[in-house]
Amino acid sequence: MALLVAMARHWDAEPWLERFRRLGGDMEILDARKPYDAAAVTHAAVWKPDPGMLAGLPNLRAIFNLGAGVDALLADKTLPGVPLYRIIDPDLTSRMTEWVTLQVLFHFRQMPDYLAQQARAAWEQLDQPGAHEVRVGILGMGVLGRDCAEVLKRIGFQVAGWSRSGAAVEGFEMFGGADGLAPFLARTDILVVLLPLTETTRGILDRKLFAGLARDGRLPGPVLINAGRGGLQVEADILAALDDGTLAGASIDVFETEPLPADNPLWPHPRLVLTPHVAADSTPEGLVAGIVRDIAAFERGETLPNLVDRATGY
Ligand code: NAP
Ligand code: GLV
Repeated sequence: MALLVAMARHWDAEPWLERFRRLGGDMEILDARKPYDAAAVTHAAVWKPDPGMLAGLPNLRAIFNLGAGVDALLADKTLPGVPLYRIIDPDLTSRMTEWVTLQVLFHFRQMPDYLAQQARAAWEQLDQPGAHEVRVGILGMGVLGRDCAEVLKRIGFQVAGWSRSGAAVEGFEMFGGADGLAPFLARTDILVVLLPLTETTRGILDRKLFAGLARDGRLPGPVLINAGRGGLQVEADILAALDDGTLAGASIDVFETEPLPADNPLWPHPRLVLTPHVAADSTPEGLVAGIVRDIAAFERGETLPNLVDRATGY
């Protein structure tokens, strides 16, 4: 067996190669940046490889994506039809829950206002609701959304979820599909977005959706938190919604164009918290051991929970 390791040029491939070599047992580890025998490759571990790179591998048996989202990979129309697996891993999940919880609390505890007050040395105590008075809605109640939901519920927020199926998630009110969206938004003060980017979800975060969020809550206005993908959001609509008060604040980790250009008007907005697609980083220390286990399980013919459904695109 030989594993081809291929990743975007801005990623440092060395620590991944080193760890795969250390934990990969008998598996030969091939570096996609150097010449290799295409016929030898049986598995590939990839993050945004150059389009077409996986097309010429006659003996490829499976592809392992080094992140949770597979939108970039599926955009490559030459991608071989072998099983495609994504990351489901406690390390990645807890990183996302840290980021989401931080952002929810940042807006809930009115930090944008306190930071502005600090800048002018102003001592003003703002009215602070309790967490139990605030409704968080999680758009995309999958592996990551459910973990965030658990932690936010433990803090005391009223948490509900929206998913494609609307399938029950124990302990949470769930909404599903197009019909469930309006009632879900109408009960949501802080909207957390953890959807995959697919044909159906592209551009879903627009002016109309923001206008449907609750306006009868204990916060000054609705808050948007997006760590899904930039393609989910219409950035001009976010700016307009922040400017006219449809949104009171937002935290965004993912953008239509990454890296976000320095002259993008999102950067200086005082009600926006921006991070450079770091909500839940993939790290070799966190993920390689699990991928090696997945490859072994795949070879034993086991069914893995992280198989991507190419029909739905996630
Ligand atoms: P997941 O387990 O596949 O969950 C996806 C959720 O979205 C599911 O609840 C699914 O509904 C729902 N969904 C999909 N299409 C929908 C639609 N058209 N309408 C309504 N709901 C829909 O994925 P995950 O592991 O939680 O990851 C979610 C996303 O997070 C990834 O795809 C990736 O884009 C993003 N991500 C970002 C970072 C970062 O650093 N910013 C890191 C990791 C992941 P069902 O439950 O009915 O299937
Ligand atoms: C990161 O964005 C991922 O999809 O894991």
